Amino acid sequence: MARILKKEVLTPQIKLMVVEAPWVAKKAKPGQFVILRVNEEGERIPLTIADYDPALGTVTIIFQEVGKTTMMLGELEEGDDILDFVGPLGREIEERYFGHVVCVGGGVGIAPTYPKAKALKACGNRVTSIIGARTASLLFWEDKMRSVSDVLYVTTDDGTYGEKGFVTHVLERVLKSEKVDLVVAVGPVMMMKMVSLLTKEYGVPTLVSLNPIMVDGTGMCGCCRVTVDGKCRFTCVDGPVFDGWKVDFDELLARQRTYLEEERRALDLWLVEKAKEEVSHGF
Ligand code: NAD
Ligand code: FES
Repeated sequence: MARILKKEVLTPQIKLMVVEAPWVAKKAKPGQFVILRVNEEGERIPLTIADYDPALGTVTIIFQEVGKTTMMLGELEEGDDILDFVGPLGREIEERYFGHVVCVGGGVGIAPTYPKAKALKACGNRVTSIIGARTASLLFWEDKMRSVSDVLYVTTDDGTYGEKGFVTHVLERVLKSEKVDLVVAVGPVMMMKMVSLLTKEYGVPTLVSLNPIMVDGTGMCGCCRVTVDGKCRFTCVDGPVFDGWKVDFDELLARQRTYLEEERRALDLWLVEKAKEEVSHGF
C-alpha cells in the first residue's frame, strides 16, 4: 500500500499525487516508471515517475483521467491508499554530459520530461526545453521546467499562451539556428514520431520515452512489445527510453488502439455503477 500525502488538480483532467513509497523513492532514476493498482479488481497501469525525493521517501505521479482506472485513481484523496505501487521499473536515461540537450515535453508528457531535464542539467549539459499543450488551461509545470532549463520555450496549439503551434515548430527553429547534441522527447506518440523525423533530417540523436499498454511490467506478458530497429523489444524491461529514429511509431499507434472499445465499455459500465451508487446514497 502507498499513502497519498498530497493531491493537486493541475488542470481539469490532470492530477498530481505525492505518494509515500520510500522503497521506490530510494532507487528511482530519471526515466523509470511505476505500475499501480487502485483496488483488488483493478487493472494495472504504468505511470512514468514525475519526481521523487529519497530523503522524504516520496514519489510524484501525474496522470490524465482518460479511462476507468485513471478516473478511479483521481477520486482518491489525501490520506487514502493506493493498493499496489510497484517500482521503480524500466531502465533509466543515461546520465552524462552530451553538450546541448533539447528536452521536448508535450501535454501530459511534460511531467516525465522534468526528471530527465533535471538530471541532464545536473550533469552539466546546456538544457533548452520546449513544452507545449493544446491550450493554456492544459499547461502545467512551466515553473518547474524553467528551474532546470537554461532556456524554456512554451507553445499552445491554439495560441492562448506562449507561441502558437506545435512544439515541433520551435524545435525546428532551434535545430536550424543552434548546434544540438541530443533531443529527448516525451509526449503523445504522434509528437514523438514527428520529433524523430525532424531530428533525423538534422542528424541529431533522439531519445523518446514510450508508454504502450502494459500488464506485468516485468517482461513476462509481451503486451508492451514495440519494434525498434526491426527487432521486437519489451518497453518495460528494454525501455521505456529508446532511440527515436529506430522506433516503428505506426505500429505503436495501431497497437495503442487495440482495446479502445473495451476501455470505452469498462468506463461506461463504471459510470453507470457509480451513478446508481450515488442515487442509492441519496446524492
Ligand atoms: P496533446 O494531444 O494535447 O499534445 C500535446 C502537445 O504535443 C501538443 O500541444 C503539440 O505541441 C504536441 N503534438 C501533438 N501532436 C503533434 C503532432 N502531430 N506533431 C507535432 N507535435 C504534436 O497531448 P495530451 O492529450 O496531453 O497527451 C496525451 C497522450 O500523451 C496520450 O496518448 C498519452 O499516452 C501520452 N503520454 C505519453 C507519455 C510518455 O511517457 N510517452 C507520458 C504521458 C502521456
Ligand atoms: Fe508485460 Fe512488458 S508489460 S512484458
